[in-house]
Amino acid sequence: MKAQRSDKLLRQWSFSRDGQNWQTVRIPHDWAISGPFDKKWDLQQVAIKENGETKATEKSGRSGALPWIGDGEYKTSLTFTEEQLKGRSHILVFDGAMAEPRVYVNGKFANALGLPKTDDSSPTWAYGYNAFRVDIAPMLKAGSNEIVVKLSNKEESSRWYPGAGLYRPVTLSSASLTRIDEWSVFVRTSSIERDEAVIDVDCGFLWNELQEENLSVEISLVNDKGYTVAASRNDIELGSVMHTRMHVSKPNLWSPETPYLYKADIRLMQANRVIDHYVFNTGIRTVKVSKEGGFQLNGVTRKLKGVCLHHDLGPLGAAVNKAALARQIRLMKEMGADAIRTAHNMPSQWQMEICDSMGMMVMAESFDMWRYPKCKNGYARFFDEWSDRDIENLVRVNRNHPSIVMWSIGNEIPEQWSEEGRKISEHLQELCHQLDETRPVTQGMDKAENALKSGFAQVMDVPGFNYRVFKYPKSIGQLPKGFLLGSETASTVSSRGVYKFPVVVTDKELSPDGQCTSYDTQYCSWSNLPESDFAAMDDLDYTIGQFVWTGFDYLGEPTPYDEYWPSRSSYFGICDLAGLPKDRYYLYRSQWRKDEHTIHLLPHWTWPSRKGKVTPVMCYTDYDSAELFVNGVSQGKAFKSKDGPSSLEPASPDLNRYRLMWPDVKYQPGELKVVVFDKDGKPAGEKTVNTSGKPFALKLEADRTSLKADGDDLAFVTVSMTDDKGNLCATSDDDIEVSVEGEGCFVAVCNGDATSLEPFTQPKMKLFGGQLVVVVRSSETAGTIFLRVNCPKRKIDNVLQISTR
Ligand code: GAL
Repeated sequence: MKAQRSDKLLRQWSFSRDGQNWQTVRIPHDWAISGPFDKKWDLQQVAIKENGETKATEKSGRSGALPWIGDGEYKTSLTFTEEQLKGRSHILVFDGAMAEPRVYVNGKFANALGLPKTDDSSPTWAYGYNAFRVDIAPMLKAGSNEIVVKLSNKEESSRWYPGAGLYRPVTLSSASLTRIDEWSVFVRTSSIERDEAVIDVDCGFLWNELQEENLSVEISLVNDKGYTVAASRNDIELGSVMHTRMHVSKPNLWSPETPYLYKADIRLMQANRVIDHYVFNTGIRTVKVSKEGGFQLNGVTRKLKGVCLHHDLGPLGAAVNKAALARQIRLMKEMGADAIRTAHNMPSQWQMEICDSMGMMVMAESFDMWRYPKCKNGYARFFDEWSDRDIENLVRVNRNHPSIVMWSIGNEIPEQWSEEGRKISEHLQELCHQLDETRPVTQGMDKAENALKSGFAQVMDVPGFNYRVFKYPKSIGQLPKGFLLGSETASTVSSRGVYKFPVVVTDKELSPDGQCTSYDTQYCSWSNLPESDFAAMDDLDYTIGQFVWTGFDYLGEPTPYDEYWPSRSSYFGICDLAGLPKDRYYLYRSQWRKDEHTIHLLPHWTWPSRKGKVTPVMCYTDYDSAELFVNGVSQGKAFKSKDGPSSLEPASPDLNRYRLMWPDVKYQPGELKVVVFDKDGKPAGEKTVNTSGKPFALKLEADRTSLKADGDDLAFVTVSMTDDKGNLCATSDDDIEVSVEGEGCFVAVCNGDATSLEPFTQPKMKLFGGQLVVVVRSSETAGTIFLRVNCPKRKIDNVLQISTR
């Protein structure tokens, strides 16, 4: 018997949509992301009740207008020797599979570990977003074994693009016959007092060989220098879960600012022999919510500066990739965010590992609906049979991640008004508590009055309210808990680099081009501008933070253009679908980054048809005043001011309080310059935007210039058209071609235009607002990647080299 456990990522699979034509794919894989875009995919004739609609209309891009509906099949083979079968346990771990995966091993249907045996009339796991395991050992034979996964996606099952296929890792986890059960292991900080952390540990086992005797388990916590800071050895009994308590003095605490990780090292011993050895990262930190302290991490009160993220990665679709996930977190941290909400479903393990190591708090969510369907074929079909299992897997898989600070049992659940809804809330919350007594539980409610009347809101550890920030003062009076969370905020809509005139604050304006203004003055009937949430966080002591909808644009839900074709991705993002920051990024940065200043000017300053016309200018900055100049001529000073209409009314946000504005500037080509002033009125910094000349060069900027030569690492290269002085040509929509040579390949391209039907996976695309992003992947051989970007019409090209190691 070998002590070695191995976790092997199963990368290579054959894939088919019809059972006849097969192609070799590498997973994580999203079968729909290559398109083509077409309004016929999942064309929905519905009334979106959550948006207040009563009449059904055609919703063309609601779930992304990509071919994710229907069936797909993956197969791979695994080879074992007699010896490997006799002495070992073999478990397939799926981190999620879209959707309704049915797993077969050598032609036989395989049940999920822990579930009663059934046949394939129901799936191995129902929910496409959750992790599950399959114990395949009893079904294996010596030699080659065929693993087949069949997937099925139904129309009208989602309010956004879910992706399709084996979009998250599948791992073969092999270990001793009696083995540590990773999903029964729980390492948590129960308290930290007088510089000593109390760590409670549970460890369970999978008893495949019941005659094992003399078993014990050794647990140690190891710091980043390799020193053991706490250890414990316990005898264990068949069938039981072991519990032990350890103490760590002077612990290094995990936080977004100091994401310190320890290794938990668990050895299953028989006499003095190690028969299984499981090591993973964990962190020491406490989380508490209370009336007195609000939200506290390690005993320190802080308001969550969060963003909601959908799971897709723009042009990569739903297929997870560590480099892409890390880029998202890097961008959000650079903006000053300290938390994400995995809207509205279970996160991937890779994402949680990245949040642990980079320092990002997480609200890990589960469901967008319970019994009452939001769309015809949604999760409501499964809720009664599967919801407890889904919560159990969510918590078991994720509870060792220090980044996760709360669980969410739902988003805008229609049952908010009912007694039944309150009971389900209590039940699901209690289930979370049983599996994890250390984290509070929340959910996002959009019907405050109903939820307060039925008691639905009051039963939650953390009452979370979506939008309608002006109702917070009334709601808090009915919440004995004494605090509330903005579980979903803003839903301001904008298109990067697009500005509409005249500038008006509106929840209505629709334009014939399918774009929203980047002046950040447009929102939805149920939502508001960022300023209302800033004010609520600044003025109302009982608010414990907010999660902005959303950090990035995502595929599907093209509100306010739900009925407009072509439009197939959202406008809510602080960054666009390519991950390029919109103006709004700097508005949040100016409020959230306390360690660095922000000075951002908008709009761009290339308006050949606006000479002499009023073209308002705004500056997003943490400074309180500034003076604006056009070609050296002062346009006056602007000051932030609290005076003005209440920021807690939806239609009249107090923009003056958080942005500096010059509403009457008349456009003249040339130089737009802002000088900001410190508290003493002294110039403290400046920012200039110039009118651009003719397109002259393509600037290439990679987010990382050195990649791992692992066949998986990605560089995101921003391509910008500039004039001969390096100014961005912000109106260029030139066609660009891309080619990649050397030790890498082209993966995708995206320009952030929600109305574009150009496929992401062809190496050409138009610029949008003068920019786009190209994604390239390393090969498994170290060397250099050569990315060539070319604008054929203007005979402009450029080459970027990226090294891989
Ligand atoms: C919320 C909902 C989100 C998204 C958002 C758009 O009500 O929870 O999923 O639809 O509205 O504003």
